[in-house]
Amino acid sequence: MFTVRVPATSANLGPGFDTLGLALDLYLTVEVKKANCDITVYYKENGEQSVNINPTDNLIIMAIEKVFTKAGQTISPLTLMVDNKIPISRGLGSSAAAIVAGIFAGNELIGRKYSTKQLMQWAVDLEGHADNIVPAIVGGFTTAMIYENEIYYQKLLTSHDFKAIVVVPDISLPTKQSRAVLPEKVALQDTVYNLQRACFLLASLYNGDIRHLNLAMDDMIYQPLRKQFIPGFDEVFKSAYDNGALGVAMSGAGPSIIAFVNDNIENIGLAMQEAFLNNSLTSKIYHLRPNETGVSIY
Ligand code: HSE
Repeated sequence: MFTVRVPATSANLGPGFDTLGLALDLYLTVEVKKANCDITVYYKENGEQSVNINPTDNLIIMAIEKVFTKAGQTISPLTLMVDNKIPISRGLGSSAAAIVAGIFAGNELIGRKYSTKQLMQWAVDLEGHADNIVPAIVGGFTTAMIYENEIYYQKLLTSHDFKAIVVVPDISLPTKQSRAVLPEKVALQDTVYNLQRACFLLASLYNGDIRHLNLAMDDMIYQPLRKQFIPGFDEVFKSAYDNGALGVAMSGAGPSIIAFVNDNIENIGLAMQEAFLNNSLTSKIYHLRPNETGVSIY
């Protein structure tokens, strides 16, 4: 038996659409046991075990199966015990975490045949974007690029002790729906706007210089189009900044909103929650830190 633990991730971080990502200390944990005849998946709910009826629809199983197939093998009977603390369809990389858990569990089950680079490639093939997958695997702040179908990434060294608040509204926003409103082409002006900020943001994170995160985390490409799905989006940003947040962005494809904070932390979270509530949306507040390790197996 072994356990795979994968962190939640926040992609884009404002200007870095499909590029930047951050691993956070909120986890999907999967205990994997070899079994005699069936594949069974249990999900823990409120501390209790409950059986998930259809393992064929399960992303973790699909990812395990992908590794077996690549190795020319058939998936073996298994029992999975899943404890998922990452909210689903909320822009915190829950599907990336499930895919990474399955890919790494599959590799473990077949005797660690494949390199991390190879496993990352398969995980990105299943997920479709690298910006959640890369930090879920390597941890920390990451920037990823794809060239001829191959993934290249850098993990940022940062000296600053970043703290994040993520406010997760009680509505789900599937990534597919959130991507459907984005245009094929983007104006040069907006591209330059985001490029300037993405580069500035990376340098700020690297230097631990938090002075202009509010400017550097702005975006002209996707947030203005996606915020129609998130009631109170502008008010939540305003309440975070009014209460001293350093930088604020839609987390991944939304609807969650991530704010980097230094002090007045409790109040910033509550003010953001209240802004959602003023728009008839309840939400949960998470106080998180970067996760530096990425996927771990023990
Ligand atoms: N970069 C992606 C998006 C994150 O914003 O659609 C979700 O995978």
